[in-house]
Amino acid sequence: VFLGIDIGTSGTKTLAVRGDGTLLGSAAVEYPLLTPRPGWSEQDPRHWADAAVATVRQLVNDGSVDPAEVQGIGLSGQMHGSVFLDAQGEVIRPALLWNDQRTAAQCEAITDAAGGREELIRMVANPALTGFTAPKILWLRDEEPERFAQLKTVLLPKDYVRYRLTGEFATEVSDASGTLLLDVANRRWSDELLAKLNLDPGLLPPVYESQEVTGRLTAAAAEAMGLPAGVPVVGGGGDQAAGAVGNGIVRSGVVSAALGTSGVVFAHSDEMQFDPAGRAHTFCHAVPGKWHVMGVILSAAGSLQWFRNQLCMDLGDFAFDRITQRAEEIPPGCEGLYFLPYLSGERTPHADPHARGAWVGLNLRTDRAALGRAVLEGVTYAMRDSLEIIQQLGVPIGEVRLSGGGAKSPFWRQLQADIYHEPCTVTNALEGPAYGAALLAMAGTGEYESVEAACDATISVTERITPNEAVAAQYDALYPAYGQLYQALKPHFA
Ligand code: XUL
Repeated sequence: VFLGIDIGTSGTKTLAVRGDGTLLGSAAVEYPLLTPRPGWSEQDPRHWADAAVATVRQLVNDGSVDPAEVQGIGLSGQMHGSVFLDAQGEVIRPALLWNDQRTAAQCEAITDAAGGREELIRMVANPALTGFTAPKILWLRDEEPERFAQLKTVLLPKDYVRYRLTGEFATEVSDASGTLLLDVANRRWSDELLAKLNLDPGLLPPVYESQEVTGRLTAAAAEAMGLPAGVPVVGGGGDQAAGAVGNGIVRSGVVSAALGTSGVVFAHSDEMQFDPAGRAHTFCHAVPGKWHVMGVILSAAGSLQWFRNQLCMDLGDFAFDRITQRAEEIPPGCEGLYFLPYLSGERTPHADPHARGAWVGLNLRTDRAALGRAVLEGVTYAMRDSLEIIQQLGVPIGEVRLSGGGAKSPFWRQLQADIYHEPCTVTNALEGPAYGAALLAMAGTGEYESVEAACDATISVTERITPNEAVAAQYDALYPAYGQLYQALKPHFA
């Protein structure tokens, strides 16, 4: 039996999984998000560690897990967050999270210190984004110097939980990629950038491959969880990489499109490919010696939720089904109506916090069914933007694997196949990052010989969706106009 623990933003979810992939049980604990000022987003790392212990305890107490059978633990979690520890390993201040926006000045300072955006991308494969970890460390140095003076160790969220469970400071390549301090090509800290930023490399923990064992449960942690001491804990992965492992995205040609509140397109890559324009993220994958390219759109199913909340509340509990049913009556392309889904700005491809949403092309025939179909099409075009970047980088796409809320509707599944103009699949594995973390624990403790083998044994395709060629050709013709609308409206978004 293997445990996968995912330290999410709203809560921690832990799964118990048998070696053959069967789910034995699941437990979750929530914790608060702190927003002390507009644009600030923080959490108390101690809540994460307490939640990890409480969820495991719950699985032991409810009989889902026989403690004697637990062979390994994998960790996953929200990426980019900064846990600041002093010389005693105590938390100095609440962690700044991935969606915290306070570090614009530090991002500029990092780009300048690196010698410009291109040089920075050469060193760490990515441009400076406010959510990443390095600008948070500089923020502490700039804004809270008395706390910075106490700083001895910086950890990512799941790696703080690892420290509390095993007593070891350690991280792994997939999560470390999101710090902006990893030499992503060589899978080790960038001494070059650290020197330019005047940061002590000793602040950072050793970096492992994601499946490697990084430590073992201490007696105290084991007792609190109800497990035997000494259970191995593997590196695990950032939530996106671990989620990809959990859906079998571990070989070239298989790309995932996950439509949650935000939307993520994630492509496995055998070689390191980076976007010189910095539109997509290039990170190490949780598969040893592999990488991934990722595009993130901020309002995916979130756009549909907004449409439901603002214009369809009268449809009641089945609003989402009704919206997609009515959308089917409208022809592809909505007779010239477009929707731009930039309700909270956009990351990929525009990196534009000021971008805003729009319907363009309204006419007297436009009804709520057409507005809804345009929302579904607009979100799907936005996902296609990321697929296009991935293709331009030379990363092959043979199959797009659909997941998230957007994969639940048969209509939206077919719409994705048609707009992406690629064959799509759905698998049996829909548990997300915690499942991937458990698979990494299996690969790292010898249950399987590799991460790929663990995925092959546990994940299978349950549905294939083929594009309707006539409709796909129509969308190919309409898609360029979608991109032009953003360019046309951009001057008015500031
Ligand atoms: C990845 C990202 C999110 C966070 C929170 O770049 O920002 O996936 O990891 O889930």
